[in-house]
Amino acid sequence: MKKSLKFLVAAAGLIAISAATAGTFSTAPCKACHAVDKDVVGPAWKRVAEKYGNEEALAKVFKGGFKVEDRKIASSEPKFKSQAAIMTGQYNTLIKGHEDEAAKALFAAVKSGKM
Ligand code: HEC
Repeated sequence: MKKSLKFLVAAAGLIAISAATAGTFSTAPCKACHAVDKDVVGPAWKRVAEKYGNEEALAKVFKGGFKVEDRKIASSEPKFKSQAAIMTGQYNTLIKGHEDEAAKALFAAVKSGKM
């Protein structure tokens, strides 16, 4: 488990670099750890969308620096709180500067059922 997690984080990092080079936001790197309707490394996006309610609420938490205590899943689920650092790295490389697009993309993925 530890080894595969490390691999995922490394792979996500590589995809992040190519996404950053392209200059647009894409949910492609998120797929390394998230699915729409089931928990993988990170929580199911369907549950994330339910907890936040709408994309504005999620964008607001992203814009506030994505503090662990503001995160609705991590602040209420110990299992995910213990892994918050993994998501902080993703936030710093992929979401910062793209807060609105990222929140919009997450809700769109949940609505269409695919990311
Ligand atoms: C390397 C694995 C990994 C990648 C890649 C990843 N995530 Fe996560 N994500 C996690 C983990 C672990 C959690 C649970 C910890 C947490 O909630 O902070 C999480 C939680 C989240 C949450 C819920 C935060 C909360 O606690 O309320 C959101 C929103 C989220 N991710 C969005 C994204 C988006 C958007 C991307 C792509 C840009 C992405 N994630 C890429 C691992 C990842």
